[in-house]
Amino acid sequence: MPEHDQAEVLYLQIAESIAMPIRAGTLARGERIPSVRELARHHSVSLGTVVQAYRMLEDSRLIVARPRSGYFVAARPPRPPEPETSNPPADSMAVDVSSLAARVMQLAHDPGYVSFGAACPSADLFAEERVRRATSRAVQRHRATLTQYIVGSGDESLRRAIARHALRMGCQLDARDIVVTNSCLESITLCLRAVTQPGDVVALESPTLFSFLEILEDLHLRALEIPTHPRTGISLDALQLAFETQPVKAVLAVPTLSNPMGASMPPADRRRLAQMVAERGIPLIEDVTYNDLAEQDGQRRAVRSFDTTGHVMLCSSFSKTVAPGLRLGWVDAGRWGTKVARMKQVTSGSQSAMLQRAMADLLMQPGIEANYRQMRSTIAARVDEVRGLIAQHFPKGTRVTDPPGGFILWVELPHGTDSLALFQACLAEGIVIAPGTMFSATNHFRHCIRLGLAGRWDDAHRHALRRVGALAEDMSTLR
Ligand SMILES: Cc1ncc(COP(=O)(O)O)c(C=O)c1O
Repeated sequence: MPEHDQAEVLYLQIAESIAMPIRAGTLARGERIPSVRELARHHSVSLGTVVQAYRMLEDSRLIVARPRSGYFVAARPPRPPEPETSNPPADSMAVDVSSLAARVMQLAHDPGYVSFGAACPSADLFAEERVRRATSRAVQRHRATLTQYIVGSGDESLRRAIARHALRMGCQLDARDIVVTNSCLESITLCLRAVTQPGDVVALESPTLFSFLEILEDLHLRALEIPTHPRTGISLDALQLAFETQPVKAVLAVPTLSNPMGASMPPADRRRLAQMVAERGIPLIEDVTYNDLAEQDGQRRAVRSFDTTGHVMLCSSFSKTVAPGLRLGWVDAGRWGTKVARMKQVTSGSQSAMLQRAMADLLMQPGIEANYRQMRSTIAARVDEVRGLIAQHFPKGTRVTDPPGGFILWVELPHGTDSLALFQACLAEGIVIAPGTMFSATNHFRHCIRLGLAGRWDDAHRHALRRVGALAEDMSTLR
């Protein structure tokens, strides 16, 4: 690894080793943390590396320096409680969310608004320069591919890089089984088409990503929402009951940093889920888009890593972690691999070879781990700050998730608050939020909103969040 990359990884590692116990409450407010000298000795690094780590923690408002006394854990405003396990109806439903979702997403990407509507990281969170360099290297080295037709399931070097990358999730994939796609949502659509027929029932988290519901709507599939805990994810007891009482044809889940709850299943649940779907012969479509953003190794591990029968179809992309503009995703569809590869060919052929080579180059660079760390730390500090703002400025009784990574918060406002009316009131002030009704085929989340925090972050955004709180407060006092 080049020296500057090594130094970057080191200071981020040191910052994380202090930030994690602070966020978990193990290091309490006002507690003294090791001096620069002590920590440098402990990790066998230079004083400069520790100073850089402490500067970053100060910027994140996690620690404060007191002249001549050292560094201390900063005082933090109280945080609101977390939501409870969701409680959706026990029957499957037809889906109708696409018109609202389309309107919200169009506004969320309009630069004229202060937006918390989307889950798209802004350019500064990616290693922009690296992406640019890798892309121009690919053009220089593989000019011929620009004027050639590309056939097959993907560029070999990219499929090998993905297989290597998947080791981080505990998965040993054969590069030949990987199909390169446009995006994670394309991968998921292909999987659903391979294993279901119109009218079939698909079990998923509740609330769930509106894009999943849109796909179900498009394919005329029914959504069976399963109770989901904001920390531990989909309830396996409820899923087992659903297997016994409903004609479930597939499960679609995001075991790590689900969207919108941010839940991450404990490792034992991941193993049990792999066993459950194998016993019933039901395919699990596992979305691992956010696994690289998880703070702990156990949460990075995919359910697929426990799969011995090929029932887990693994889907992902690089849209949230490496470079959304390259538009590359992938799928390893287990026992449905041949069918999915054929469907991909028939529907949209292959991706650009040049961009695939650029992505392979990026994935093989040692600095990629430092990029993930940098993104994780920047976002964790922001999410923590926003939870504090919610505690101060949102109505009494508001609950908010506390995800172990990622950039999405799910906010449960006092019951009776109408998130659609709040969405309209925010819009009138130039602010976009995502109303809870987008994230379910049921009407159970009308009092909830999702905040996406990976976009720009500045004082205008802080002010806008205070306004969202004040508008919600007005609505709850009017009721
Ligand atoms: C869990 C999850 N999967 C997939 C996607 C979409 O990824 P892509 O753009 O690669 O389709 C999102 C985007 O918000 C997401 O949150």
